[in-house]
Amino acid sequence: MSDEDGVQLEARLEEQEAFDPPEEFVEQANVSEKSIYEEFEENWPECWEQAADLLDWEESYDEVLDASNPPFYEWFTDGKLNASANCLDRHLDERGDEAAIEWVGEPLEEGNRTYTYEDLHREVNEFAAALREMGVGEDDVVTMYMPMIPELPIAMLACARIGAPHSVVFAGFSADALATRMNAADSEYLVTCDGYYRRGDPLDHLNKANDGLAGVEHFVSDAVVVERLRDGDGFGHDLADDQRTYADLVAEQAGETVEPVERDAEDMLFLMYTSGTTGQPKGVKHTTGGYLSWAAWTSQAVLDIEPEDTYFCSADIGWITGHSYIVYGPLALGTTTMMYEGTPDYPERDRLWEIVEEYEANQLYTAPTAIRAFMKWGSEYPDRHDLSSLRLLGTVGEPINPRAWKWYYKHIGDKSCPIVDTWWQTETGGMMVTTLPGIGTMKPGSAGPPLPGVDAQIVDTDGTQVDAGRAGYLTVQKPWPGMLRTLYKNDERYIDEYWREYSDTDSDDMEDWVYFPEDGAKIDDDGYITVLGRVDDVINVSGHRLGTMEIESAIVGVEGVAEAAVVGGDHEVKGEAVYAYVITEEGYEGGDGLRLRVVGGIEDAIGPIARPESVVFTPELPKTRSGKIMRRLLEDIANNDELGDTSTLRNPDVVEDIAASVSDD
Ligand code: WTA
Repeated sequence: MSDEDGVQLEARLEEQEAFDPPEEFVEQANVSEKSIYEEFEENWPECWEQAADLLDWEESYDEVLDASNPPFYEWFTDGKLNASANCLDRHLDERGDEAAIEWVGEPLEEGNRTYTYEDLHREVNEFAAALREMGVGEDDVVTMYMPMIPELPIAMLACARIGAPHSVVFAGFSADALATRMNAADSEYLVTCDGYYRRGDPLDHLNKANDGLAGVEHFVSDAVVVERLRDGDGFGHDLADDQRTYADLVAEQAGETVEPVERDAEDMLFLMYTSGTTGQPKGVKHTTGGYLSWAAWTSQAVLDIEPEDTYFCSADIGWITGHSYIVYGPLALGTTTMMYEGTPDYPERDRLWEIVEEYEANQLYTAPTAIRAFMKWGSEYPDRHDLSSLRLLGTVGEPINPRAWKWYYKHIGDKSCPIVDTWWQTETGGMMVTTLPGIGTMKPGSAGPPLPGVDAQIVDTDGTQVDAGRAGYLTVQKPWPGMLRTLYKNDERYIDEYWREYSDTDSDDMEDWVYFPEDGAKIDDDGYITVLGRVDDVINVSGHRLGTMEIESAIVGVEGVAEAAVVGGDHEVKGEAVYAYVITEEGYEGGDGLRLRVVGGIEDAIGPIARPESVVFTPELPKTRSGKIMRRLLEDIANNDELGDTSTLRNPDVVEDIAASVSDD
């Protein structure tokens, strides 16, 4: 190919708006018949037996869906199963010696570990026995506060084995965030670790966990500490009397096995706290039968996972993506799932590509924020490696801009891997809107049609479907097996947050109930959905959901702060970033000192992920005559946009003042 041809091809790629999946992929795809869309529609909800059939049931279910009491739907009623048995025991005969987890630790000499299905089964059993010994009973919530170390999925599966729901708290969250979640879940047990490594340096974790425990209101029975740090890297931790090391516990139970507890399909598998409009995180409840079948079915249909694959999702297990698509989905299918502890840029910016090459990964599932960073670093890093093992690429967590999509397609997928841009949420349990990789044409920037059997529609404020091309609100008009069942111990808030907007809440008829995910979206003539972003007070920073109210209440907790408003502004790599506007109290000056304390306050309350991009001190905030903060205007300032309409403001001048003080900075 001449240089000129190359330039022309390049130009064509830039302009191309639709891409068909490569033929080679289609030929081997798990799902490749277009008729699946019609079949599922005609056969709804029985179509979801296909998902349930991917699991082993101790007792088969009576009904696919019980919709008698919406929105409290029940799926696969009276079916009995165990999630740990489905992820481990049933694979032992055929895949016992195959790798279940390939763990890539920080680049230390003893870094990597392979767990075969046999190994994983053994250790999960031992730890399940240890948890029982500690007194953990069925339905006791066990909190995990751990980074990407193998003991995290082991602890999750051990809980699942004994019917104890887990609640995983992202390790990057602060001590306060841990305490809030343990308090909300009434969780008496904690599994954590002493520390871990970041870019080669040891990082303390146990002191943070202990600070969190100090804020737990109820009695905490026991804490288990995984000793991840090596001798000499410790932080002088002394374990408290009620703290046991993970190593001792499993050693005591060496060779023990625990019968998987029969769980009802509707029994809780786990809780996951996520941010919402109010300051209090929402405890999303997922069940054993519906969730697991959803994670398994979507892993098979969308990620095209086969048992022989080595599948790599670069998310953190502390978020829902890691739950569904590092742990439960891939292991339910008996494949090899990778876990990477480190960061993509250490020791060098080609770290992920080195891993893909070394392990011959077949799928890569990551977030647009990561892709934008790779793009910024340049294609020389992936170019150093043979990435030809890759068969499919995926993205999740936020909208992907067409430029990043095309970069991913070309430089990582070598134009021979389909990309699935998957829209879903903590609450949906798994993917909802995406092309099926063996079927649909891909359109960069648009997630695609709803999955077969998923009834997603874009509506206006009245709930009427909008025309193609018009922006509206994303809704889901029929229930699905992977959906959350409620917010933990708060059915009322469950209805308020997700259903009230578009449902007739007095009705017992499923048709009158509509799920509202709080995302804006538009649809094109082909039924492809482009998700535009959150329409509530949630900001999506690097694919992580943060509540503006949570951040604001952290800021007003800082001495010297009278009032604060937080908005999301555009960010080249993170997608969105946190912008904080702060009014100081009488007698306090806004300056670097207070700015540092504001940042510190946010990190203490939530964690470094919520660190603001900028903190602007202002004498006033733009408010409507009724006293509501006009966040839209603050967003305009953050984005350096033309200021929107200020005529409804009580104090229109303030906006110009803030904008001016920002540009002075
Ligand atoms: C956003 C992550 C556009 C959306 C699995 C959603 C997306 C929120 C996409 C959920 C996508 C997720 N395109 N936006 N492909 N995927 N989102 O609960 O705003 O951490 O509501 O779940 O992320 O975030 P959560």
